Order: sequence, then C-alpha cells, then structure tokens
Amino acid sequence: MTQTTGNAAESLIVQDLTKDFAGLRAVDGVSFTVNPGEILGLIGPNGSGKTTTINVVTGLLNITSGSVRLGSLDMTGWQPHRIARAGLARTFQIVRLFKDFTVRENVEVAAVASGNARGKVVADRADRALRQLGIFHLANTPARVLPQGEERLVEIARAIATEPRFLLLDEPGAGLNDAEIESFLPTLRRLRTDLGCGILIVDHDMRLIMNLCDRIHVLNYGKTIAEGTPGEVRREPAVIEAYLGAEEAA
Ligand SMILES: Nc1ncnc2c1ncn2[C@@H]1O[C@H](COP(=O)(O)OP(=O)(O)OP(=O)(O)O)[C@@H](O)[C@H]1O
Ligand SMILES: [Mg+2]
Repeated sequence: MTQTTGNAAESLIVQDLTKDFAGLRAVDGVSFTVNPGEILGLIGPNGSGKTTTINVVTGLLNITSGSVRLGSLDMTGWQPHRIARAGLARTFQIVRLFKDFTVRENVEVAAVASGNARGKVVADRADRALRQLGIFHLANTPARVLPQGEERLVEIARAIATEPRFLLLDEPGAGLNDAEIESFLPTLRRLRTDLGCGILIVDHDMRLIMNLCDRIHVLNYGKTIAEGTPGEVRREPAVIEAYLGAEEAA
C-alpha cells in the first residue's frame, strides 16, 4: 500500500504501529500520515483498533512496536503530557468533563493543563475556542446540564484551547441526532481552516466521515485494509465486505 507523505517536516507520521494486549494484537502494523490542514478519517468495525490507535499515538498506552513522529521529532514512548505539549490534542469516545464546572471553566482548565498559557491568555483562548465551536452562549452553564451534542462540542473546545497542531477525535458524532450531525460538519471544516491543524477523526457516522474527510484509512482486526479518498474507499470491495455493506457503498 502506498503511503501518503505530504510535507514530512510538519506531518503526524505513524509507522508500523503495533499494540498487543495479553494474547491479542489489537493494532497490527498500521501506518498513516496526517498532514497539516488535512482531515483523515479512521474507520472500521467495532473492535478493529481505532481507539487503541489514538491511545497509543497520544501516549496513553505503551506502544508494542513501531513509531510516532511529528515531522522529524520522534515521540515514540513519550508520556501523554509531553505529547500534548508537542501539539497533539484528543477527545474521548466517552466524554469526560468536570461536571461541577461551568463550560468556560472546563475549557480554561484544559488550556492551563497544556502548560503553554497563563492568566489572560487562558481566558482569551477559552473565549476563542468557545466562539469557534459556536457555544460561547453556554460559557456560564454548568457542564452537568448539557445535552450530549453540546458536551461533545465542549470536549472539542477543550482540545482546541491547547492550540494543537493535530486534533484526534474519537467518535465526536456518537449520540448526536441528524440535525446535530448536520451542523457539526461545517464546524469541523471551519476548525481545519481557522486553526490550520490536521485532524484525525474516528466515527461510525458515514455521512459525517464521507462528507468531511480528505482521505480515509480503514482498519479491520487491527490491520489496514484500505486507504484513499472517500470515493475510493467506498468502492473498495474489502471495505464493503468488512464494514460498509452494499447499502452504504451505493
Ligand atoms: N485495555 C485493553 N485491554 C485488553 N484488550 C483491549 C483493551 N482495549 C481494547 N482492547 C481490545 O482491543 C481491540 C480493539 O479495541 P478498540 O477499542 O481499539 O476498538 P475500536 O475500533 O475503537 O472499536 P469501537 O468502534 O467499538 O470503539 C478489541 O478487541 C478490544 O476488546
Ligand atoms: Mg473505539
């Protein structure tokens, strides 16, 4: 399979990533590159290794073998906080907010934790992140009363308040209704343009994935089975068989 290289000096480059859990190879020799300003989709059936890939890339899980680089910077084996400071931010499949904090406090905490902002810079970044996601009006709302769609947006605001170079989103569309997915698309496109960051997005919502991504990487049982544009991937027999089914591909 050919590997897209792009601007190697700036790209997030994952090479031959393998992750074993006791007796199970969850990710098996996966390679992909996310270029700055690009949206790469990572899709595949349940248990195919998508979340594990994000967890290894962000340092939450130890890598078994392979490498993770940011341009020429080799981050393999780094701790999560160091990887975050190098410019990788992520969201979780299950939203993790401080329920007793307001939306603004949740975003400010993330900006502070990134280690590169203090005082007024933190407040300014939180403001900007909330505006970019269209949730500035919720700034003083306690996180615990938010519906699921808005929780997802706050999680992304937390990630972008760290001013990342790459954003890794694990199922941001999960639990959103059709209207929420519809308004989510332009928001995510705008992030790419406004922030210039590269985005890796995992989701099972094919409307979101097919309409948003420049390229898509497909996993099955931890292995890459296809990579290409949405049009290419959707026609790939191995992808139709393992994941999409004939209906989605039509
Ligand atoms: N901490 C862990 N210990 C042992 N096995 C794990 C662990 N985390 C994940 N797995 C296993 O690794 C495989 C890949 O799981 P992963 O969560 O990465 O899949 P996924 O593609 O994100 O699936 P989904 O679409 O359901 O979120 C699965 O078989 C899962 O059971
Ligand atoms: Mg997952």
